[in-house]
Amino acid sequence: MRNQIVAGNWKMNNNTAETELLLTNLTQHSIREDVSVYVAPAFTQLSQAVSMLNGQPIKVAAQNMNAAASGAHTGEVSSSMLKGIGVQTVILGHSERRSLYGETNESLKAKVATAIEDGMEIIFCFGEELSERKENTHFDLVKEQLFTALFELPSEAWNQIILAYEPVWAIGTGETASPEQAQEMHAFIRKEIEANYDAALAENVVILYGGSVKPNNAKEIFSMVDVDGGLIGGASLNADDFMVIVNAF
Ligand code: PGA
Repeated sequence: MRNQIVAGNWKMNNNTAETELLLTNLTQHSIREDVSVYVAPAFTQLSQAVSMLNGQPIKVAAQNMNAAASGAHTGEVSSSMLKGIGVQTVILGHSERRSLYGETNESLKAKVATAIEDGMEIIFCFGEELSERKENTHFDLVKEQLFTALFELPSEAWNQIILAYEPVWAIGTGETASPEQAQEMHAFIRKEIEANYDAALAENVVILYGGSVKPNNAKEIFSMVDVDGGLIGGASLNADDFMVIVNAF
């Protein structure tokens, strides 16, 4: 059985006081043992989250990192800096990083390589725009995203990879992919992984769905056989909503 995961991507939300409140509220809920829970605060709140969640069953992820180890990259953060404060997981390739900050499949390939080499766990995001779904090119697009950034990695590297399929048209819009659309894409992804690697790897990789997952639709989405959990934006900012989603398996 694959891991079940729910990860909260806080994006550029929650200052120190808000982080304190949200994490205090989250840690008041008991978390079931068969679900791995992550929160991804902004860089400035990572140390605070690591310290507040010490001994708690909630892991802390960063929302981004640079591919370089160090040097002249003003405004950037390296994997060793993250590891140095106790953060072992990083979200890479989020659609907002791609659309607003120019990240490409090629630049993500470099980030993935560094993160793997440095022993980080990666939540790798990808997914099509609405126009691509309308033109029926969404499968090709997703294949290309995975191929360029991930499919040259050796099999062992996949122990460090969690996939997050996030159709861009469903992110922050209130419009989710239907459970069937999510299932169809997740099954396609496993088929591509099997073709590039093997059946065991394809069966074992965790694939999250992201895009307007809410307390009222999580159960239906998570019930799909190839959906192993969710990457949650808006609904992760409220502890009660997030915990309903964590318990939606
Ligand atoms: P959303 O965001 O849940 O607010 O749609 C998901 C994401 O961006 O990861």
